[in-house]
Formats: sequence, structure tokens, C-alpha cells
Amino acid sequence: MLCKYFPLKFEQFLNAVCFSALFCEVTFMLFIVLGDITRSHADAIVNAANTSLLGGSGVDGAIHRAAGPELLAECRTLHGCETGQAKLTAAYRLPCRYVIHTAGPIWRGGGHGEASLLAACYRNSLALAAEHGCRSVDFPSISTGVYGYPVLQAAHVALKAIMDFLRDHPDMDVRIVCHGEDTLHAYQLAKRCNEKRVMAQAVEWGRRGARLNAIAPGIIVTPLALDEFNGPRGEFYQDMFARYPAGRPGTADEV
Ligand code: AR6
Repeated sequence: MLCKYFPLKFEQFLNAVCFSALFCEVTFMLFIVLGDITRSHADAIVNAANTSLLGGSGVDGAIHRAAGPELLAECRTLHGCETGQAKLTAAYRLPCRYVIHTAGPIWRGGGHGEASLLAACYRNSLALAAEHGCRSVDFPSISTGVYGYPVLQAAHVALKAIMDFLRDHPDMDVRIVCHGEDTLHAYQLAKRCNEKRVMAQAVEWGRRGARLNAIAPGIIVTPLALDEFNGPRGEFYQDMFARYPAGRPGTADEV
């Protein structure tokens, strides 16, 4: 039955089964959800702040309103935050333990280092969370509101930065809390694009006899993608690995 849905050579079929098992192990480190981050019970939530750290509109305003005036008082002691950097405070009346404030880049067309600054926001926020023993971290979609970063491009940058971090911190859970359907769909789309590329890359590596455990940690594949891999759409992956350029075992694919 499987062979009907997965008409590969026997060696390729074996590799596919091994990959399935490995992928199951690393499912669900990164969630994309719809909601209001001020209601989060994660160990830390991230605030899309500005460099002054003295509050603003959007998610920043919502976090300060929900946390109460003590949050602003603590923020005043931090003396701001450079774009791409992150600073941590207590959460006061919020249900999470910490708030990590990061200043995202203002979109200026994409040629002013916006992508690397946005990636730095995610990376530095996660590093700070790990330093404080946080196991769960919730992010809003940084820079895609007032700061005007195109959401699909931001989603690709965010997912890559988070996945790169999670590869070395498999004990942490990260959620992206989207505040509207459009944002949610953009992040879901970016995640699915990445899963398909990673899966195609994995199949290629397996076909060429790569050590399977060298590429599995940190790769995120949902059960949906896994079902597709073994199901009627297996053809999609065959087609992908026929066309996909060869990758290097031991590295992760670019988003
Ligand atoms: N929960 C989750 N996401 C939210 C919430 C919420 N409660 N409220 C808004 N968002 P923005 P930026 C989403 O503008 O683009 C502030 O004035 C929102 O829909 O909050 O990084 C700061 O002080 C969008 O998808 O942040 C800065 O000056 C995302 O959060 C500036 O805005 C980010 O939108 C930062 O701009």
C-alpha cells in the first residue's frame, strides 16, 4: 500500500522511513498561533518595542497597558535598546514571567540591513530568554505593524532565525502569536515553504547516503507534512528531489 503511494526505489524507501521517525521526534518546537500575546502564560513574551523602550502603540501599548505602570518604571532604568538588541524586565500584572523588549528595524525598502536586524531581534531575544532559564517564549510578528516590514518577508526571516536557535536549544518551545488572520496566513505559508524545502533536502541527503542523525535536530516538520510525505502527494517530493540541487550533510537548508 505504502509502495503504491510512495513508488521509489527500495533504498530510497528505506531512507524515507528513517526520516519519518526522526522528524516525529522533533515535531512541535515551533507553533504559529492566533491570539493576544498579553494573555500568554509562556515563561517570556517578547515586546516589539522601539529604541527608547518607553512604550508606544500596537503590541507595545497593549503590553504596557496590561502589565501596569511598574513596567514603564522598570523600562526607564534600562536606558533604551539598540535596534536588533533585547532587554529583559519583570512582567508585573501579565501572566507570563518576563517581558523581553526588542527594537525591530523600520522597513526602508529592504536594502538597509533590515533582514539581519530583524533576525538579530529574534536571536538576541531567545538568547536572553535561555539565559534566564525560560523554556517557552512567545513572539509577536516584530516590525510588521507600525514599522512596515512586509509580513511574508518578515515571516521567512523570523522562522529561519528561530529554527537556527532551536537547533541548539531543543528543550525550548517558541510560539509566534499572530494578531490577525493575514499575519497568521503569512507565517503558515512561510513555514510550509520551509518544510517542503527541508523535506526535499532531507530526501536528497538520504538518497546519497548521508548520516541521518546529522541533519535531523532542529528540523521542523508538522504531522501534515509527514502525512503528505508518505501519502498520495509523495510524488511532489520525488519531483522536488529530482530537481533540487545537492545539499551538504550536516547543515540545514536556508529558508
Ligand atoms: N498580541 C499579539 N500581536 C499584536 C498585538 C497583541 N496584543 N497587538 C498588535 N499585535 P506593532 P512594530 C501585532 O506595530 O511594527 C510601537 O509603537 C500587530 O498586529 O506593534 O514592530 C512601538 O513602540 C503586528 O502584526 O510593532 C514601536 O514604536 C505586530 O504585532 C513600533 O510600534 C507588530 O506590530 C514598533 O512597530
